[in-house]
Amino acid sequence: MKNNRASFGSKLGIILASAGSAVGLGNIWRFPYETGNYGGAAFIFIYLGCIFVLGLPIMIGEFLIGRRSRANTAGAFQILAPGSQWKWVGRMGVLAGFMILSFYSVVAGWTLEYVFEALGNGFAGKSPDEFIQSFDTFSSNPWKPIIWLVLFLLCTHFIIVRGVEKGIEKSSKIMMPMLFILIIVLVICSVTLPGASAGIEFLLKPDFSKVNGNVFLGAMGQAFFSLSLGMGCLCTYASYFGKDVNLTRTAFSVGIIDTFIAILAGFIIFPAAFSVGIKPDAGPSLLFITLPNVFQQAFSGAPWLAYIFSIMFYVLLTVAALTSTISMHEVVTAYLHEEFKLSRRRAAWMVTLGCILLGILCSLSLGVGKNYTLFGLNLFDLFDYVTAKIMLPLGGMLTSIFVGWYLDKKIVWSEITNDGSLKINTYKLITFILKYIAPIAIGIVFINELLFTK
Ligand code: PHE
Repeated sequence: MKNNRASFGSKLGIILASAGSAVGLGNIWRFPYETGNYGGAAFIFIYLGCIFVLGLPIMIGEFLIGRRSRANTAGAFQILAPGSQWKWVGRMGVLAGFMILSFYSVVAGWTLEYVFEALGNGFAGKSPDEFIQSFDTFSSNPWKPIIWLVLFLLCTHFIIVRGVEKGIEKSSKIMMPMLFILIIVLVICSVTLPGASAGIEFLLKPDFSKVNGNVFLGAMGQAFFSLSLGMGCLCTYASYFGKDVNLTRTAFSVGIIDTFIAILAGFIIFPAAFSVGIKPDAGPSLLFITLPNVFQQAFSGAPWLAYIFSIMFYVLLTVAALTSTISMHEVVTAYLHEEFKLSRRRAAWMVTLGCILLGILCSLSLGVGKNYTLFGLNLFDLFDYVTAKIMLPLGGMLTSIFVGWYLDKKIVWSEITNDGSLKINTYKLITFILKYIAPIAIGIVFINELLFTK
């Protein structure tokens, strides 16, 4: 059974597939709107701390669990800690993956709508207010977003069914570099818009007086969400890694790429938002109401460039979302396939259909169903909150405790150093963070939020 598992074809493929999972709507859609919600530069500062101090060591921890066990995330804990309750960490991850996939697909569906808007030259000649209006009309329409969401999940489904190497690796290899180049072009366009400097200041000048426990929880949640961490996603991918992969270096590369793209996305959104007078705390709609303005204003002298760039951007954003949804889908599919001995195809169908159902509910909760709330949140926001701010950090905390305290040190050492063949200068630091810093820091943020923050 073990020998039949698929694997990634090349080292570059490994980095790109993992980065493909990490880079997605989390960077380009969620990061800017959370930064806007939490007041800008100070949030980014704390976010960066969370990425490098907590995120990267925990990512290495997840990688080593996956590669050592060569199993889906729940199976992995069972293999490394037989007969214990650790398998629940994996199971919680599977549940988180399922929930994230459901609301994430709603937003991915929006990007599809924008691809077609762009193709039909639908942005031409509109004012900033009209962009806000048309987003509201679209996102609260009961049917349209649902059709896109179903279509998007079906695309994810068919790539998953084609298997790891053919589906995941090939698409990441071409699209990721293209996305990167286009993002750089858009940053240049955005920062040169009239009045953009207020947006740049918002990103660079921290105001720590506004920082409270919520900001810490938000930044930590965003770090986990953006790195695809805390739910066994990278653990599942690492189960397809070869023996010679340098886990530390891979984690570092993924972290750098992911962070860089998020920051660049900030430099697209905020200068443009300030330039046209959109409030930075507009919430989940921020990307969709701000970006069309960049195309319109920056290329007002060359409408054909606006046309081509807007199509390219939304297509690439859709692909970035797709490489992320594939990774979430894979977590749940691999779990059902291996733990319940279902065929991969059947397991994949169960995930897809389940997510379509929950995704429809999330989508409706932004329109016709917006009066149905729990703890003051509609279903979409509730899923986002519970996964990003509770389940992922909790999963990360338990993963660090597992690697730092439970796992045999020899296993940790042999995975991080590839049986002693790599010299990892940061080895002591990594294990120290996993043992003490990560569990304590995450614990403090949780306790602070529960007891002291309103
Ligand atoms: N990291 C992805 C993004 O930034 C989202 C994601 C979360 C993917 C959790 C997999 C698991 O878009």
